[in-house]
Amino acid sequence: EKGVYPYYMLKEIDEQPNVMRKLSAKYLDENGAPLFDKKLLEAMKQADRLYIIGAGTSYHAGLVGKNLFEKLVNVPTEVHVASEFAYNQPIISDNPFFIFLSQSGETADSREVLVNVNQKDFPSLTITNVENSTLSREATFTLLLEAGPEISVASTKAYTAQIAVEAILAKGLGEFKEIEVAKNFDIKQQLGLVATGMQSIVDEKATIDDLSKKYFVDAEKSFYIGRGTDYFVSLEASLKLKEISYIQAEGFASGELKHGTIALIEDGTPVIGIITQANTASLTRSNLQETMSRGAKKITIVSDDLARNDDDIIIPTVDELLAPLLSVIPAQLLAYYTSLNKGLDVDKPRNLAKSVTVE
Ligand code: F6R
Repeated sequence: EKGVYPYYMLKEIDEQPNVMRKLSAKYLDENGAPLFDKKLLEAMKQADRLYIIGAGTSYHAGLVGKNLFEKLVNVPTEVHVASEFAYNQPIISDNPFFIFLSQSGETADSREVLVNVNQKDFPSLTITNVENSTLSREATFTLLLEAGPEISVASTKAYTAQIAVEAILAKGLGEFKEIEVAKNFDIKQQLGLVATGMQSIVDEKATIDDLSKKYFVDAEKSFYIGRGTDYFVSLEASLKLKEISYIQAEGFASGELKHGTIALIEDGTPVIGIITQANTASLTRSNLQETMSRGAKKITIVSDDLARNDDDIIIPTVDELLAPLLSVIPAQLLAYYTSLNKGLDVDKPRNLAKSVTVE
């Protein structure tokens, strides 16, 4: 029930701090040690390469996961759009392990890949919000997202839950493989910081509503830019805005913009820069500057430790690997308010269904 909320999407955005706490309680013991089935860890430990498969928002959560697995487990990780992987497979390593990300567990594109993976007897894990869903039943292992039902077509809490589960799994597997970085990664403390950080952002909703009214309601197009994981979040942030506000939004690697796309910038085009990674902060800032000198209206979403006086949305600092869990929240809210302020049906955008069961 959506209760006092006008739309499920806002309720689901608000639930995210709690989902983080639930996942921490479910997958970590009181000392912060990950609790996973030994068989899952053994199977994953054998892998020389991880393949993450998903569609839409789940694919975007996979991109963030790649960094987590590569940094904490030291295992090469590829992320693929399910519908592409199904019919145009890359060369697969000798000992692959497949991870399927799917809120519903029913996405046909991902199911098609899993059928093929099973024919080849490759081990697999489905991370899903729906117990006993098809992808869960057909994979070797399952981990649940514990996000509670997600009703709004635009996915929010499933995205952050997927990233959190990937992070806990990467910590668990990294420790199992005795990787030093994983041992030193205090996932319990970090998820605690994430939950409080999310709460502080959702408590400041009104600021985002204002930004939406000022710069987005009348915009025809917009850009999210960033580098590394900030780029991955840019893809998700722009998908959110597109699907419920119908404003054309592109997520772009900030260094790529000048190789063509910058031609689209006009007077007043909103360009949102996501800045949570210290090593690329100044680069993204200069790329933002380039768009501003062509008339763009810049808006920044920046981690506290990298913030300057002229930044717009400042989010609490957490470990850079988990920063997407916070930087995506203002973007979800911006999409929500822009859709709301345009008088659209936030939960049921045109042309879309919650679960896509055809290829
Ligand atoms: C976007 C959205 C979709 C889904 C995609 C995959 O907000 O919800 O892009 O993420 O259709 O769905 P699942 O995760 O159920 O496989």
